[in-house]
Amino acid sequence: MIRAAPPVASTPSLPDPALAPALKASLAASHGVLDFPIGAAIEPASTTGTDAALLRKHYSSITAENAMKPATIWPNAPGTTDPAAAPNFVPADTLVTFAATNGMQLRGHTLLWHQTAPSWFFAGDQSDAANYRAAVRQRLHDYIFAVVQHFPGVYAWDVVNEVATDTPNASNPYRIDSPWYVAYALGGNDGSEYVRDAFTFAAQARATIPGKSSVNMKLMLNDYNTEIPGKRANVMKIVQDLVNAGIPIDGVGHQFHLQVGADVAQVTAALAAVEGISIALVNHVTELDVSLYADTGNCYTARTIPPCLADNGANAPLAILSQQAALYRALYNAFNRPSVTSITTWGLADNHTWLNTFPVSRTNRPLLFDISGNPKWAFWAVVDSSIALP
Ligand code: GLA
Repeated sequence: MIRAAPPVASTPSLPDPALAPALKASLAASHGVLDFPIGAAIEPASTTGTDAALLRKHYSSITAENAMKPATIWPNAPGTTDPAAAPNFVPADTLVTFAATNGMQLRGHTLLWHQTAPSWFFAGDQSDAANYRAAVRQRLHDYIFAVVQHFPGVYAWDVVNEVATDTPNASNPYRIDSPWYVAYALGGNDGSEYVRDAFTFAAQARATIPGKSSVNMKLMLNDYNTEIPGKRANVMKIVQDLVNAGIPIDGVGHQFHLQVGADVAQVTAALAAVEGISIALVNHVTELDVSLYADTGNCYTARTIPPCLADNGANAPLAILSQQAALYRALYNAFNRPSVTSITTWGLADNHTWLNTFPVSRTNRPLLFDISGNPKWAFWAVVDSSIALP
């Protein structure tokens, strides 16, 4: 008697890219919200060619990867500690035009960040603490007014970026080595007041724009590692303090720069923590990516291989891409809650990602589309819950 061979589980193969649904349509449907902002952070160069085509098909929101940061918009005048004579809105305006032409929304990133703060903000005679502090404060005010008024169409601003300290569960939850904190702390003053000022100035500037309010221009505090309990505690302490003080904050941006093996329960806990402070606050996922490398914490301090994991090379192992896809699927399920009102990945496709040089130079493939712009397993995992992963 001839017996049939037992069935062998076949490895699923990637669906035909031509069959890919629009990411924004799939996610808007699963969230039950028309025009749900599904974003990518891009440089102005991505507004042409194949990147632009990918954006038009799949995304409904864009974030400036660098074009709206203070060092781009208003650098020092060359060789001086003075501000340039005029702001440089040209690169960001390319994004504004692209968004308008293609019916996309625009997220503002960021009005204040310690890493891209030009030194003219902090120039001056520090021997007179009161006058110095007042001058720095006035510059922050004027900068925020100029920039918020120049981009009246944005639906959210990351008013401050990364103001919380990394020290877990710190009694002072602020990053004290920020030049903003240092300038405000001069003369024994409260260094953290710049955060309250930034939100207050942003809300005042917003109020000068017809039709804009907390409904359609959210003022956000953006930070990383909110999925790590000790860092999350610092961020939430700051947010709670702002709410208690009546400061106009509308929500929290979670960067969510994750890696394979990330704990989705901790991602959910970060979103829930914001909801727990006030149901009036929204959550935005602002810089999502999933590194293929499950590095340990000391990789980020050493920034060498080892302890960072060795380069996988240009062709990432299928098992890791599958693990990445499963995580993306679980993440987008976790994001499907009413408080989450925008989801952005830090990049568009694997041809351009900061993770090829951070924390070390190494091939990384952290996004939903491959280096040619074709949907990866991660994309299919997100848009079709029934698809079996390899
Ligand atoms: C942080 C910033 C972003 C970007 C990334 C990496 O997350 O918020 O603007 O610079 O680092 O490039």
